[in-house]
Amino acid sequence: MSLYALLAGNGPSGFGYGSTAEQVTEGLDLNGAHILITGCNSGLGREAMRVLAMRGATVIGAARSLEKATAACEAVEGSTIPVACELSEPASVRACVQAVKDLGVPLQAIIANAGIMALPKPQQLFGWERQLFVNHIGHFILVTGLLDSLAADGRVVMLSSAAHKGAPKVGIEQDNLGGERGYTPWKSYGQSKIANLLFARELARRFEGTDRVANAVHPGVIATNLGRHMNPVMVAAMSVAKPLALKTIPQGAATEVWAAVHPDAAKISGEYLSHCNVAKSSAQGQDMALAAKLWEISEAKVATL
Ligand SMILES: NC(=O)c1ccc[n+]([C@@H]2O[C@H](COP(=O)([O-])OP(=O)(O)OC[C@H]3O[C@@H](n4cnc5c(N)ncnc54)[C@H](OP(=O)(O)O)[C@@H]3O)[C@@H](O)[C@H]2O)c1
Repeated sequence: MSLYALLAGNGPSGFGYGSTAEQVTEGLDLNGAHILITGCNSGLGREAMRVLAMRGATVIGAARSLEKATAACEAVEGSTIPVACELSEPASVRACVQAVKDLGVPLQAIIANAGIMALPKPQQLFGWERQLFVNHIGHFILVTGLLDSLAADGRVVMLSSAAHKGAPKVGIEQDNLGGERGYTPWKSYGQSKIANLLFARELARRFEGTDRVANAVHPGVIATNLGRHMNPVMVAAMSVAKPLALKTIPQGAATEVWAAVHPDAAKISGEYLSHCNVAKSSAQGQDMALAAKLWEISEAKVATL
């Protein structure tokens, strides 16, 4: 456990910075629940899948290819179903939606966990900046495509990040969605993560009056494969900070797992969660007009794909 985790203590939920995914699910029996998670083959997604399956859930583990998903699913004990979902390819995401629908089971939770971070050079997919497309549009197609399969009290968990606070001043640069009018790796990552947050807020608004909930999560700062594009100086700084300040992967997976299955999170909706508690996002991350606008332009974009 890091020094910070020892000092931080727990929040109102009874959990906090140092809580692990195993701890936040202790005593829970998830038998009968089906939970879909993207990015199941690495980092936080792999640990979340392991713990959810250990507690009895059937985890539908999505990775970029069926081979990767199968290998990841075979590596954990419990009930898992591998599916392919390449978020950069709408056809793959739609095929994943169909494969999950074909299972004919209600989903207790969808955890939109997969992501990429800080691509050094601007890249576009279907005219949108690649991080915004993969992290947001890919998951937009997946989650909206599966709403019919979400249980009446189902939960949607979007992996955002504290890095959403580094998004452009306007939150979403509607006049620069392709990044051609200026690109910086972290700002674009921040934009994609505020998009994940705003999507969760707008989805929660659409869920009002039902028992479904949607939330966004900052998992903490954890050394995973996500840092593959970081420059060597940042990587070195992180390895020095690791024992002091960084979360471990079991701690990093705790908030998404808590949001997806803990009984105390069943009525929390439209929130930004951090360290297994409700937290405060940036002002733009609370802007419901921007959330509605993002939904509208995402829906319009998806209709062209
Ligand atoms: N680690 C942190 O400090 C941190 C902090 C804040 C937020 N987060 C968020 O937490 C989530 C999980 O990150 P992590 O740290 O566990 O990172 P990770 O170890 O790099 O895992 C990311 C997962 O996303 C998958 N992925 C990447 N591109 C994809 C695509 N085009 N289609 C489908 N899947 C794709 C990866 O698959 P491959 O292995 O095949 O590439 C991998 O399974 C991300 O959304 C990230 O933004 C992490």
